[in-house]
Amino acid sequence: MTDDLISAKGVEVTYRGQGKAAVKVLHGVDVRIARRETVGIVGESGSGKTTLGRALLRLVDITAGTITFDGRDISHLPEAEMRPLRRRMQMIFQDPMASLNPRHTVRRILTEPLLFHGVAANRADAEKRVRQFFDRVALPVACLDRTPHELSGGQRQRVGIARAALLEPDFVLADEIVSGLDVSTQAQALNLLKTLTRDLGLAMAFISHDLSVIRAVCDRVYVMRNGTVVEEGRCEDVFATPKSAYTRLLIDAIPLPEIDPTWLGRDRADDPPGSADGHGARAAAAG
Ligand SMILES: Nc1ncnc2c1ncn2[C@@H]1O[C@H](COP(=O)(O)OP(=O)(O)OP(=O)(O)O)[C@@H](O)[C@H]1O
Ligand SMILES: [Mg+2]
Repeated sequence: MTDDLISAKGVEVTYRGQGKAAVKVLHGVDVRIARRETVGIVGESGSGKTTLGRALLRLVDITAGTITFDGRDISHLPEAEMRPLRRRMQMIFQDPMASLNPRHTVRRILTEPLLFHGVAANRADAEKRVRQFFDRVALPVACLDRTPHELSGGQRQRVGIARAALLEPDFVLADEIVSGLDVSTQAQALNLLKTLTRDLGLAMAFISHDLSVIRAVCDRVYVMRNGTVVEEGRCEDVFATPKSAYTRLLIDAIPLPEIDPTWLGRDRADDPPGSADGHGARAAAAG
């Protein structure tokens, strides 16, 4: 308990649009994420996953409850006092095209935050850190001089992941980050996230509507419905013996795993080069 990095207790969020009725979308949510732990948040569209993630990062105001980060109550911390914590709480976006400045080169997108947050001492140091990281995230150095639209979808997602991880955060929020990618690109991004969180000791909240993806990457999972948590537990337990009928429904809705060529007696000699990683993660995702 004391080792929680970030937690929400009894959190409520009410949206108030101008001239519109107030809508309460989180009704007393409790979640906690330990250091180095990867926690999944799953549930149908509109259940409040993104709102909860944004509340944890203090990107939306909470109307009741408490958000704690690294032993400190940050529920109503003014933005000026939040600022030093911002580097430590990063977010990876669903649509990197929308979150990466289309006019900037990848070099600029990755080095500027390092200088802004004082992680790198100077431009040369920032460039060095980025280049070292490129190997890790399997990005060709040539990408440094490209703009986001000159990258593939998978490369763009890896730039988004690199931008967050380079800042050496303690906590990362990943919201539906693989939803727009094809299965093998998804698997590569998930593998990369797993390796990075392990090697860098990151805690992560991983939001997805897809339980099979959650199972592939998460230690524990929270199942949300209509702004409340209906079930919580270790992934293996929740998958083996779900307590709520709603979780059962979600599990039953997982599509059958993709057909693996080896099941058909074919070897993988005709696989495209560089797909080995993808298959590994896909096999893991399929259980
Ligand atoms: N800025 C806002 N103003 C008013 N209502 C909002 C706002 N953002 C979200 N909502 C409402 O809050 C509820 C929860 O939305 P949220 O985006 O958290 O759901 P979600 O679980 O992330 O869904 P999805 O899987 O579709 O991303 C929804 O009913 C949504 O319409
Ligand atoms: Mg969402």
